[in-house]
Amino acid sequence: MSTRDDVLASLREAGGLPISGEKLARSLGVSRAAVSKHVAALRAAGFDIHAAPGLGYALLGESDALDPRVVRSHVRSPWWIDIRGGGEVVSTMDEAARLARGGAPAGTVVLASRQTGGRGRLGRQWESPEGGVYLSAILRPQLSPAEITPLPLVISLGVARGLAEFGAAPTLKWPNDVMLDDGKVAGILLEMSAEADRVSWVVVGVGLNVFASAPLAPGAAYIADVVPDVTRPHVAAEVLDAIADVVDRFERSGFAALRDEYESLLAALGREVTLTDVDGHLQAVGTARGVDEAGRLVVATATGDAAFASGDTSLRPPSVPI
Ligand code: BTN
Repeated sequence: MSTRDDVLASLREAGGLPISGEKLARSLGVSRAAVSKHVAALRAAGFDIHAAPGLGYALLGESDALDPRVVRSHVRSPWWIDIRGGGEVVSTMDEAARLARGGAPAGTVVLASRQTGGRGRLGRQWESPEGGVYLSAILRPQLSPAEITPLPLVISLGVARGLAEFGAAPTLKWPNDVMLDDGKVAGILLEMSAEADRVSWVVVGVGLNVFASAPLAPGAAYIADVVPDVTRPHVAAEVLDAIADVVDRFERSGFAALRDEYESLLAALGREVTLTDVDGHLQAVGTARGVDEAGRLVVATATGDAAFASGDTSLRPPSVPI
C-alpha cells in the first residue's frame, strides 16, 4: 500500500470523525506536509475530506470515480493483482482479451465507466452509458473446457453475493442474469481461449447498472435505487471480492459446492418457465426443477425432465394463438 492508501485507510477507520494531521503524520511515519499533499490528492480523486481547524481531517464522503486506485482501496481479496482502466473503451472484453493473449496473469482486471461497443450474450449489444460499472477480469483456471461449463452461473452467484453485501436482495435468472426485483441489474459474458483439454484463459465480463441512465433502459434495475450513497468503485470492489471467492471455491471443489446456493437465488425455481433458444425459438415449457452439476437448467416438461445447456428463460408462458 502507498502512503496515500494508508492516509485513506486511517480516515476510513476514523468513521467520519476528524484526525489531526500531526497524528496521521506520526502514525504513518511521514511529515505533516506529506499528509497534506496526500489529502489533496485524495480530494482530487473525488473523496470529500473536510479540514476542520484545530481538529484535523474528516472523511465525509467516498469517491465515485471509477479510478483503479479507488477501486483497489476497497478490494480485500489478494486475487486481483492488476486493476487498470476506468475511462471509455470500445469494450473491456477486447482490452482484457488482448492482455490475456499477451500473457497477462490471472487476476488482471480492466475497468470502464463507458463502453462504445459493449457486447452481451448471444451477439446482443450491451448499452454502456455513464453511471454503470463495466469490467472484464482474466482467469486462468486449471480446468478443461468441459469442466468450466458452469462458470457463468458461478460468476452470477458471485455478483449476487457482492450486491448482497450492500443489503440488496438480488435473485438469479438462469443462466447468468442478476436481477433486482423484476429488473436486470447485471449481465455476465464469458469469452475464452482453450485447447481440447485445457483452458488457456477466460475473460469474465460483468456489466452493472449502478446509477440510472437517461433515457432509462427498459427492463433494467439500478443498484442506487435500493442502496443509498452507493459508489461505483465500491460496487466494483465488492463484486470482484465475491467473484474471487466463488471462483476459488469452484476451482477447488467444483460446481457441486455452490449449486445449492445458486438454486436458492433462482427466481424460477419451482415455477413455470418458458425456455427459448439463441434464435428466440421455443425450446420448452415446464416447471424449473433446478440446475444439474454441469449448470444445465432442468425443466419438468409434459414429456418428462429435460436438461438445457443454453437459452433464455422467462417466467411467463408464451401466448398461444387460438
Ligand atoms: C448479457 O448479455 O447479459 C451480458 C452483458 C455483459 C456486459 C459486460 S460489460 C463489461 C464487459 N464488456 C462488454 O463488452 N461486455 C461485458
